[in-house]
Amino acid sequence: MSIKVAIVGGGGRVGSNAAFALQCAGVVREIALIDANADLAAGEALDLLHGSSIMGNQIITSGTAASAADADVVCITAGSRRKPDESRLDLINRNVSIFKSILDDLRANNLRRDAIILVVSNPVDILTRMAVEYLGWPAQQVMGLGTVLDTARFRSMIAADQQLPPAQIKALILGEHGDSMVPIWSTATVAGFSLTSLLSANKQNELFTRTKGSGAEVIKRKGGAGYAVGVSIAEVIHAIALDTNEILPVSSQINGPYGVRGTCFSLPTVVGRQGVVKVHEIELWPKEVSSIQASARALDETWSKLA
Ligand SMILES: NC(=O)c1ccc[n+]([C@@H]2O[C@H](COP(=O)([O-])OP(=O)(O)OC[C@H]3O[C@@H](n4cnc5c(N)ncnc54)[C@H](O)[C@@H]3O)[C@@H](O)[C@H]2O)c1
Repeated sequence: MSIKVAIVGGGGRVGSNAAFALQCAGVVREIALIDANADLAAGEALDLLHGSSIMGNQIITSGTAASAADADVVCITAGSRRKPDESRLDLINRNVSIFKSILDDLRANNLRRDAIILVVSNPVDILTRMAVEYLGWPAQQVMGLGTVLDTARFRSMIAADQQLPPAQIKALILGEHGDSMVPIWSTATVAGFSLTSLLSANKQNELFTRTKGSGAEVIKRKGGAGYAVGVSIAEVIHAIALDTNEILPVSSQINGPYGVRGTCFSLPTVVGRQGVVKVHEIELWPKEVSSIQASARALDETWSKLA
């Protein structure tokens, strides 16, 4: 158990579910929950700690931003939740000022120079770019959850609909974690063969539309996403902790692929102990490339409104 993870927003639903996913996996050494609501973070940490005699020898604590100082990964889940009919980008005005104050707090507490920042709060691609530019850190040390959760949902929903084993579905969502996300059917497979040979164009559209709407559906039915986002966060943190070089659709600052420059969003990205190791520019259908470029333009437009 190698690394310490600090979760800022760890008292909230996403942060505490991520902490539980990390506890269940037993890969990381230490989990520190930080939250503006200190009691809530302390309560979540205590609840997790009560299970540690069953789950494993991890250190589980709660505290202030000072407890992020020696963290290897700082995962930021603090912020407001999206309302059912609100786009993720509409959240921007509510979450930007919270996010900047968190970055200020972290900076004041002298994070490790090699720490990796994992942004989860929405709008995740905009806040990831803000973390890169506001902190002035090497861009490779900053990533966002991006479309990791959307990709997990997409695979799981294709599998459920087609009665296929979920872990054998390989299908990506790229671009923005939000309205302009792009389904990638050109490379989608199950057990090594093409999913487009199995699914009609109508079925493909239906499955993507359901995937895209499923975040809002979870919010409407239970208040907010928890378990699936928790395991998605754990998937990324484990790639960092174990230096696996796993290729994940995290959000990072793109400089070159598909002609995109400066935007943070999701492309197939090699993730390891140094953070973003490499971004792949894979061969896609022309309409997928143009949708990815449109997604970058949508994000750039929002970004330009921030200044
Ligand atoms: N990227 C993704 O795939 C994804 C998926 C689901 C949710 N989210 C986002 O995650 C965020 C959290 O969602 P949630 O459901 O856990 O909300 P939540 O309200 O349950 O938790 C948010 C927590 O942040 C804390 N907080 C607020 N300001 C803070 C500050 N300055 N410092 C420290 N803590 C602070 C709150 O006290 C609260 O405990 C939202 O922005 C949501 O949109 C992202």
